[in-house]
Amino acid sequence: MPTYAGKLPNKIMPFIREHVHGSQTNVLAIVTFGNRNFDHALAELCFLLSENHFCIKGAAALVCEHAFSQKIATGHPDTKDFKQIA
Ligand SMILES: Cc1cc2nc3c(=O)[nH]c(=O)nc-3n(C[C@H](O)[C@H](O)[C@H](O)COP(=O)(O)O)c2cc1C
Repeated sequence: MPTYAGKLPNKIMPFIREHVHGSQTNVLAIVTFGNRNFDHALAELCFLLSENHFCIKGAAALVCEHAFSQKIATGHPDTKDFKQIA
Protein backbone atom coordinates (compact mmCIF):
# COMPACT_ATOMS: atom_id res chain seq x y z
CA MET A 1 0.00 0.00 0.00
CA PRO A 2 1.29 3.53 -0.71
CA THR A 3 1.56 6.25 1.93
CA TYR A 4 -0.60 9.32 1.33
CA ALA A 5 -0.18 12.19 3.78
CA GLY A 6 1.42 9.86 6.27
CA LYS A 7 -1.49 7.42 6.20
CA LEU A 8 -3.02 4.68 4.08
CA PRO A 9 -5.06 6.22 1.25
CA ASN A 10 -8.48 6.81 2.80
CA LYS A 11 -10.32 5.73 -0.35
CA ILE A 12 -8.62 2.30 -0.36
CA MET A 13 -8.88 1.50 3.37
CA PRO A 14 -12.65 0.76 3.33
CA PHE A 15 -12.17 -1.58 0.34
CA ILE A 16 -9.46 -3.53 2.17
CA ARG A 17 -11.50 -3.60 5.38
CA GLU A 18 -14.58 -5.00 3.60
CA HIS A 19 -13.11 -7.27 0.94
CA VAL A 20 -9.68 -8.53 2.01
CA HIS A 21 -9.96 -11.15 4.74
CA GLY A 22 -7.61 -13.79 6.05
CA SER A 23 -8.00 -16.85 8.24
CA GLN A 24 -4.81 -16.59 10.28
CA THR A 25 -3.20 -16.23 6.84
CA ASN A 26 0.49 -15.32 6.84
CA VAL A 27 1.13 -11.90 5.37
CA LEU A 28 3.88 -9.33 4.87
CA ALA A 29 2.71 -5.78 5.54
CA ILE A 30 4.48 -3.45 3.14
CA VAL A 31 3.98 0.25 2.53
CA THR A 32 5.80 2.42 0.02
CA PHE A 33 6.55 6.09 0.58
CA GLY A 34 8.13 8.95 -1.36
CA ASN A 35 11.08 9.69 0.93
CA ARG A 36 9.28 12.20 3.15
CA ASN A 37 7.99 9.84 5.88
CA PHE A 38 5.67 6.85 6.15
CA ASP A 39 4.44 8.19 9.51
CA HIS A 40 1.43 6.05 10.58
CA ALA A 41 0.88 4.17 7.31
CA LEU A 42 2.67 0.96 8.31
CA ALA A 43 1.04 0.83 11.75
CA GLU A 44 -2.37 1.40 10.14
CA LEU A 45 -1.78 -1.41 7.64
CA CYS A 46 -0.67 -3.80 10.40
CA PHE A 47 -3.74 -2.91 12.48
CA LEU A 48 -6.07 -3.37 9.50
CA LEU A 49 -4.58 -6.73 8.53
CA SER A 50 -4.71 -7.98 12.14
CA GLU A 51 -8.36 -6.92 12.43
CA ASN A 52 -9.10 -8.92 9.27
CA HIS A 53 -7.50 -12.07 10.69
CA PHE A 54 -4.13 -12.03 8.98
CA CYS A 55 -1.01 -13.19 10.82
CA ILE A 56 1.71 -10.61 10.20
CA LYS A 57 5.05 -12.32 9.61
CA GLY A 58 6.99 -9.22 8.66
CA ALA A 59 6.58 -5.55 7.91
CA ALA A 60 8.52 -2.98 5.95
CA ALA A 61 8.35 0.58 4.66
CA LEU A 62 10.09 0.89 1.29
CA VAL A 63 11.20 4.14 -0.30
CA CYS A 64 10.03 4.78 -3.88
CA GLU A 65 10.00 7.71 -6.26
CA HIS A 66 7.42 10.23 -5.10
CA ALA A 67 4.31 10.26 -7.32
CA PHE A 68 4.37 14.09 -7.27
CA SER A 69 7.91 14.38 -8.69
CA GLN A 70 10.57 12.03 -10.01
CA LYS A 71 13.08 14.44 -8.42
CA ILE A 72 12.18 13.09 -4.98
CA ALA A 73 13.77 9.72 -4.17
CA THR A 74 14.92 9.47 -7.79
CA GLY A 75 15.83 5.95 -8.84
CA HIS A 76 14.50 4.23 -5.72
CA PRO A 77 14.16 1.40 -5.10
CA ASP A 78 17.73 0.88 -6.28
CA THR A 79 20.14 -2.07 -6.07
CA LYS A 80 21.08 -1.22 -2.47
CA ASP A 81 17.38 -0.98 -1.50
CA PHE A 82 16.65 -4.38 -3.08
CA LYS A 83 19.52 -5.93 -1.08
CA GLN A 84 18.03 -4.53 2.13
CA ILE A 85 14.56 -5.69 1.10
CA ALA A 86 15.86 -9.23 0.51
C1 LIG B 1 -1.63 12.35 -2.49
C2 LIG B 1 -0.25 11.79 -2.16
C3 LIG B 1 0.24 11.95 -0.88
C4 LIG B 1 1.52 11.45 -0.54
N1 LIG B 1 1.98 11.58 0.73
C5 LIG B 1 3.21 11.11 1.03
C6 LIG B 1 3.72 11.25 2.37
O1 LIG B 1 3.07 11.73 3.29
N2 LIG B 1 4.97 10.80 2.62
C7 LIG B 1 5.76 10.24 1.64
O2 LIG B 1 6.90 9.90 1.93
N3 LIG B 1 5.29 10.05 0.38
C8 LIG B 1 4.02 10.47 0.05
N4 LIG B 1 3.53 10.28 -1.21
C9 LIG B 1 4.33 9.52 -2.18
C10 LIG B 1 3.80 8.09 -2.32
O3 LIG B 1 3.83 7.43 -1.07
C11 LIG B 1 4.66 7.34 -3.36
O4 LIG B 1 4.48 7.99 -4.58
C12 LIG B 1 4.20 5.92 -3.50
O5 LIG B 1 4.40 5.21 -2.30
C13 LIG B 1 4.95 5.22 -4.59
O6 LIG B 1 4.13 4.22 -5.06
P1 LIG B 1 3.36 4.41 -6.45
O7 LIG B 1 4.42 4.20 -7.50
O8 LIG B 1 2.32 3.35 -6.42
O9 LIG B 1 2.82 5.82 -6.47
C14 LIG B 1 2.29 10.78 -1.54
C15 LIG B 1 1.76 10.63 -2.84
C16 LIG B 1 0.51 11.13 -3.15
C17 LIG B 1 -0.04 10.93 -4.55
